[in-house]
Amino acid sequence: MNLEEHRLRELLAQLSLKEKIGQMTQLHSHFYQDLNEKAAGQMMKMGVTDEMVGNSGSVLGASGAGRIKKMLKNQLEKNRHHIPLLIMADVIHGYKTIFPIPLALGCSWDPTLAKRASEVAAREASVSGVHVVFAPMVDLVRDPRWGRVMESTGEDPYLNSVFAQAFVDGFQGDDLKNDLNRTAACVKHFAGYGAVEGGREYNTVNMSERQMRQDYLVSYKSAIEAGCRLIMTAYNTVDGIPATANHWLLRKVLRDEWGFDGVTISDSGAVRELVPHSVAADEKEAAMKAIEAGVDIEMGTFCYMHHLERLVNEHKILESRIDEAVWRILKLKNDLGLFENPFRGADEEKEKRVVYCRDHRDQAQKAAEQSCVLLKNSGILPLKQNQKLAIIGPFADNGAILGAWSWRGDPNATETLTAAFRSEKIFKTYSSRGSGILEGNRELLNEAIKTARGANLIIAAVGEASNMSGEASSRAHIDLPECQLELIRELKALRKPLVIVLFNGRPLDLTPLIDDVDALLEVWYPGSEGAHAVFNLLTGRANPSGKLSMSFPRTIGQIPIYYNCYNTGRPLAENGDKKKYVSKYLDCPNDALFPFGFGLSYTTFEYSGLSLAAVRIAGSMSVQVTVCVRNSGKVAGSEVVQLYIRDISGEVVRPVKELKAFKKIDLLPGERKYLHFTIQESMLRYYHSDLTFKSDDGKFEVMVGGDSVRTLHVPFVLSRGRLVLIHDEAK
Ligand code: GLC
Repeated sequence: MNLEEHRLRELLAQLSLKEKIGQMTQLHSHFYQDLNEKAAGQMMKMGVTDEMVGNSGSVLGASGAGRIKKMLKNQLEKNRHHIPLLIMADVIHGYKTIFPIPLALGCSWDPTLAKRASEVAAREASVSGVHVVFAPMVDLVRDPRWGRVMESTGEDPYLNSVFAQAFVDGFQGDDLKNDLNRTAACVKHFAGYGAVEGGREYNTVNMSERQMRQDYLVSYKSAIEAGCRLIMTAYNTVDGIPATANHWLLRKVLRDEWGFDGVTISDSGAVRELVPHSVAADEKEAAMKAIEAGVDIEMGTFCYMHHLERLVNEHKILESRIDEAVWRILKLKNDLGLFENPFRGADEEKEKRVVYCRDHRDQAQKAAEQSCVLLKNSGILPLKQNQKLAIIGPFADNGAILGAWSWRGDPNATETLTAAFRSEKIFKTYSSRGSGILEGNRELLNEAIKTARGANLIIAAVGEASNMSGEASSRAHIDLPECQLELIRELKALRKPLVIVLFNGRPLDLTPLIDDVDALLEVWYPGSEGAHAVFNLLTGRANPSGKLSMSFPRTIGQIPIYYNCYNTGRPLAENGDKKKYVSKYLDCPNDALFPFGFGLSYTTFEYSGLSLAAVRIAGSMSVQVTVCVRNSGKVAGSEVVQLYIRDISGEVVRPVKELKAFKKIDLLPGERKYLHFTIQESMLRYYHSDLTFKSDDGKFEVMVGGDSVRTLHVPFVLSRGRLVLIHDEAK
């Protein structure tokens, strides 16, 4: 044990039971400011005493270098052993410089960009006094009704895992103790929160352990393998037991199998919610179940503070359970250097220079340019210069384009789409609201129509309000609100070129409008510099390169719809079977309106020459996949080349395809590149019915293309653990 650990052990031994329990409690920041009469009264009503505040180990939701320093100073004086506070906050996709929402970043298919976004977020958060960020959120999501889909990177386990690692690397760097521009990361929500039934927030999650391991645990594991220091338990049940009281999840999987030695923290209130979950009769039993399952810090409620001491004294729980939790908390504080420097990165002068600086905003703009997805273009984009443009809609002149988890981001300081166009002075730009987000009226419509009549081209800036996605924002209908659909219909009736710019936090049902418009650019919530990013994309200064990280359904009736589905025993043939007794609907096609991996460019890309070659890598046989991609258009562009594999027959059913690799490449007009991917046996492993994770001999198919539907195919075989080619031509 090194000196530091020795000193920590000594400190742990000096703590009273009450002080240990204090370290396991996270209070909201309002308990740490000078409480007015009312707030102090509320605190007493909650049974939170001044002593408890003095003993508590971490704070939720505070930032600002000066404010944090004051808070820390007060706390250090109150705490008998001067144990520094951990300052934790929701910095999900930016602190003050807000990047596109994670669902948008996922559509960039550029993990380096995600890493840079997290580096910027950590730099701004750390200088503002934050030590730990409650990110990345890596929940797999296949249901756009769930509002928190905006925080995820979508429906694919592999893509989510690549981004999980990138986000953790960006936040933490590789020297957390000495690099004050970094923060510790807290991956969430462990586990399976994205699979809530009906897409309804906080609802039940039910799935087999095999599916949980195959699809839903993969991205959390990736974050843990990337060295993420904390993990947050989810609100939902996992096989009938809430994650926050789930031994299998928090001890067997997380600690024993994955070897995680970091801190577990409950989601806000999740310990106390074991009572309404009906697995705890009262808060005392909730405290017992959470600590036994292995929750180190209780966030937002006081079950630990109010009951753990008695549970120990009644020998209902061992004090060693508490010691192991407090040890991990002290170790995290030590690894962040807080004992030597409790203020860590907080620095008022540097904060003024770093937060929201030009370089950060430039990076946010580039990220937005790469995260938008061009879903339709009849050819009217990019915009021809010197046109009269009418920008119409609730997002025409609206800075609220930061998303639901943009905390310190400021919509009032955020450039609007109209302002971006007007600042460039290339177009004569008119603007009109046309409709509210949820409500409209004839007057607004008439004004918008009048404005649009004088234009050559109409840009309809429409979408969801930021608070229509995010936490506690599930929607049972995922259409654009009717008032906006009416606006689009009336604009369409003017028979002018019509471009939709869509601001939203989830895949929406675009069927009602997609045939009426000439182009549609999905911009999600593009962040602080999103408006200019959209300007650059619409005018061709930047060429759209985003690809969907989540399927867009044709209608809500198809949900859940995702690309890596099972074939079923009666698959609908690709030629659209006329047979009755096959897996299909009477009233809707099976396929998505826009599939996973799809996105258009202002140029076109041709794929050819898909071939396989046997190669020996590190002593074992692998297969090298080669494909030629050519820019067959007139402008330079970036293409995300995607590689999928299908296991033709497994011990359990296997998806019709699974993303296994991708590369984003830039090509000049006419330029071609030969790309190589390597298939290794490890890519073919999956969870069998007995939960062993291994590959089987048999036939496979590799598919390569620019989305999950249009791909070239070549078969290959795995025989006695070795990859063997079948010399067929690429189909
Ligand atoms: C919320 C969210 C979680 C967030 C936490 C702290 O309820 O579920 O994602 O980090 O509370 O704000």
